[in-house]
Amino acid sequence: MTSPVDAESAASDPETAEIRLGEKTLPLSVTEGTEGERAVDIGALRKDTGYITLDPGFGNTGACRSAITFIDGEKGILRYRGYPIEELAEHSTFLETAWLLMHGELPSKMELDDFVGDVTSHTMLNESFRKFMDALPRDAHPMPICAATVGALATFYQQPESEQSIRQTIVQLIAKMPTIAAYAYKHSLGQPFIYPRNDLDYSSNLIHMMFATPCAPFEVDPVVAKALDQLFILHADHEQNCSTSTVRLVGSSMANLFASISAGISALWGSLHGGANQKVVEMFEAIEKGGGDPEAYIARAKDPNDPTRLMGFGHRVYKNYDPRAAFLKDSCRQVLDRLDVSDKLLEIAQGLEEITLKDPYFVDRKLYPNVDFYSGVIYRALGIPVDAFTVMFAIGRLPGWIAQWIEMRNDPAFRIGRPRQIYTGANQRSYEGMSSR
Ligand code: ACO
Repeated sequence: MTSPVDAESAASDPETAEIRLGEKTLPLSVTEGTEGERAVDIGALRKDTGYITLDPGFGNTGACRSAITFIDGEKGILRYRGYPIEELAEHSTFLETAWLLMHGELPSKMELDDFVGDVTSHTMLNESFRKFMDALPRDAHPMPICAATVGALATFYQQPESEQSIRQTIVQLIAKMPTIAAYAYKHSLGQPFIYPRNDLDYSSNLIHMMFATPCAPFEVDPVVAKALDQLFILHADHEQNCSTSTVRLVGSSMANLFASISAGISALWGSLHGGANQKVVEMFEAIEKGGGDPEAYIARAKDPNDPTRLMGFGHRVYKNYDPRAAFLKDSCRQVLDRLDVSDKLLEIAQGLEEITLKDPYFVDRKLYPNVDFYSGVIYRALGIPVDAFTVMFAIGRLPGWIAQWIEMRNDPAFRIGRPRQIYTGANQRSYEGMSSR
């Protein structure tokens, strides 16, 4: 498996910068990426001056060079390995896109057939996982179940790390994630687990495992399977976001791929990240319960003294419409029409968006719908339970996490991730015994 960190094609030193600290001036090199993004390389700063940079939330910090995903947040562009996501969502499949992310090029027919065959034949989970899941509460959220199960896979596959074992782990992870997700759902219902079917494609198999029961025949609706596959493609990578940075950071300690992905799933669960898709639908439901008028909710989101935020709105990188949200807004209506489903929540979403696009609070801060704003309405129409929305996101994001993990490990500049800090605590003091406290 190759993973070129495209350091060669990113021209180094198109210009230089310098930083003056007191009497000292330090020349710094400037690096430019293949799409013209520029960075000042501060690698020598601390060694040469004793200073570090302070950038809470890493809004200005490039942690790596990467040849996987390009985002232009101002123009609303997202490409995987150079291919616009709209084209991939329209014409590719999730497993083909996964291959593209991990290998850098689209697969040949033979490569894709082999990969799909490999994934299809590794979908079963060791039977011990039935007992493992049984030990967890019925009302457990499926995200920690997935994180725990993926972490626990490392106890079944303990071979030393090699190119061959990593390749095997990748197939196991991609193959078993839908099974884990479906088992977590069946566990919450108290229903028997449904085994995977090797004659079904990736997304159809997930739907089968989630919704089939042993007591009645079940047919997967191809419209539902196609819509889910498209959602997976749209979520497949998003450069150095919170969960991906987590996967890289954990993997940088030489923790294995199972452990790194398990950490990524945990990071994705948070409501400011992937967990927002569940919170968006809960927000729409709350608005619907309150009579359908979103104004009161919007007023709370704008109030600086109220922690409420408009879920599914805003993004660290996009200062224009999130291209995934644009795609999903269109496909939302199409999916609902094709499934002949009407959902009041879509009207609420569109009404909410219309108001915010004219409201100076949102306009001035460049807050637009993000990927989570419309995805939940589609998941609902597909029959996915609300607390499994973020699990669907995790299945989609898995190949991106893997691609980034491989790239990090193959990077010639690889080092353990270890940020610095500015200490603001107490200065040295002496321990006082209990009697003098
Ligand atoms: N609703 C109301 N106000 C918002 C929102 C929002 N959703 N998002 C940002 N703002 C406001 C902030 O209050 C801040 O206002 P101020 O300048 O008056 O203080 C300003 O916009 C900038 O916000 P930051 O918090 O600095 O933006 P940041 O880049 O740190 O956060 C984030 C990005 C976390 C996505 C934020 O927009 C948010 O909380 N959105 C809601 C949660 C969400 O939808 N998350 C999913 C993101 S997509 C993904 O991870 C898959």
